[in-house]
Amino acid sequence: MLLILLIILLSVPSNCIVLFQQTSTFRRLNLPNTSVGPESITFDSLGRGPYTGISDGKIVRYDRRTAGFVDFAFTSRNRSKALCDGTNNPALRPICGRPLGMEFFIRKNMLFIADAFLGLFKVGLNGGLATQLANAAEGIPFRFLNGLSVDQHTGDVYFTDFSSRFLQTQIQQAVAANDSTGRLLKYDYRTKNVTVLLRRLSGANGVAISSDSSYVLVAEFLANRTRRFWLHGTKAFTSEIVATFRGMPDNIRRAPFGNFLVAVNVERPAGGPRLIPTAIRINGAGQTLQTLPLDRYYNNTTISEVLQCGKQYYIGSVEANFVGVFNG
Ligand SMILES: *[C@@H]1O[C@H](CO)[C@@H](O)[C@H](O)[C@H]1NC(C)=O
Ligand SMILES: *[C@@H]1O[C@H](CO)[C@@H](O)[C@H](O)[C@H]1NC(C)=O
Ligand SMILES: *[C@@H]1O[C@H](CO)[C@@H](O)[C@H](O)[C@H]1NC(C)=O
Ligand SMILES: *[C@@H]1O[C@H](CO)[C@@H](O)[C@H](O)[C@H]1NC(C)=O
Ligand SMILES: *[C@@H]1O[C@H](CO)[C@@H](O)[C@H](O)[C@H]1NC(C)=O
Ligand SMILES: *[C@@H]1O[C@H](CO)[C@@H](O)[C@H](O)[C@H]1NC(C)=O
Ligand SMILES: *[C@@H]1O[C@H](CO)[C@@H](O)[C@H](O)[C@H]1NC(C)=O
Repeated sequence: MLLILLIILLSVPSNCIVLFQQTSTFRRLNLPNTSVGPESITFDSLGRGPYTGISDGKIVRYDRRTAGFVDFAFTSRNRSKALCDGTNNPALRPICGRPLGMEFFIRKNMLFIADAFLGLFKVGLNGGLATQLANAAEGIPFRFLNGLSVDQHTGDVYFTDFSSRFLQTQIQQAVAANDSTGRLLKYDYRTKNVTVLLRRLSGANGVAISSDSSYVLVAEFLANRTRRFWLHGTKAFTSEIVATFRGMPDNIRRAPFGNFLVAVNVERPAGGPRLIPTAIRINGAGQTLQTLPLDRYYNNTTISEVLQCGKQYYIGSVEANFVGVFNG
């Protein structure tokens, strides 16, 4: 029992690899062509990656041999390379796809993908066209799928719909309306059923399941806070606010020792660039354990995710044209 607990606590949150052992503090893994926006990052069972979804609708994989990204998968069956490759045109996103949250179910070599426009998908290790699993829940279509986290014990997928009213391209309107129609959803791996766990969220964004599967943390972007939703125990199916930030939280990832890393773009008191992209380490109760500002490497660009791999951190962003690799 103690041994199992130790393994859970010490295990690396995802099957990642350390790319650069002894180099400068920060490296950029440049995206192909003119694409931007590696929003979320994951690794496969063989330690290959990082994989990430980009603005032209593709999911790409970093190839260590060529030190560049190669095509892996896509979500839209209508996607044309001529029209989509390298694009960052918002109008093309419903056609080309826009993969955001993603994570491998390691045991089954299956990548789950939350596409902002097209719904929930899965794809195997061979990549190619992904299979749509759902595009609505309780009769309400997904409008803006965003974060995603896989329970590595069961394959169940926790994911968020930012809003039931606004699309990804209408985020300014969602801010102006102080929208609170976001949802936390669950895809049951066994029954293939999608259920709604939480409604009326203020910009449902990042989500991460705890390593013991007892709860999920979910970020509410428009309210600068993180909520804990209990899956098991006496508080099962209830939620509470556990952390409030001085900025808008994006993705949440499991980190070693049962903690989490939240990507937060913190408001600067005065002068300089507007926001300080910051990795904030919290525990499950929402207490801040570490604050790691990254503005030095993100010149006035926001970040969307921080994935820890040993002493290395992979950093996602919806604006940057690279995946950041920071040696902490
Ligand atoms: C880069 O763009 C060219 C066309 O401009 C396309 O043929 C190629 O597939 C693209 N490469 C990637 C990795 O997207
Ligand atoms: C793909 O094409 C089909 C048929 O042309 C169309 O019905 C469907 O809406 C298109 N889907 C997307 C995501 O553009
Ligand atoms: C926006 O919504 C949140 C959550 O419902 C609420 O706490 C906050 O007061 C609202 N802000 C404004 C300006 O109405
Ligand atoms: C699927 O979920 C719905 C509620 O959303 C429930 O009524 C139904 O029984 C579930 N089906 C299965 C096979 O679990
Ligand atoms: C959230 O943080 C931003 C700074 O990034 C600030 O402008 C905004 O007022 C905050 N919103 C709330 C609801 O606290
Ligand atoms: C940072 O970006 C904001 C808008 O995105 C812009 O108003 C500001 O001038 C930029 N600051 C610097 C130093 O580039
Ligand atoms: C940061 O951005 C500013 C304004 O966009 C630019 O002038 C400057 O060269 C950039 N610095 C770096 C290190 O990229």
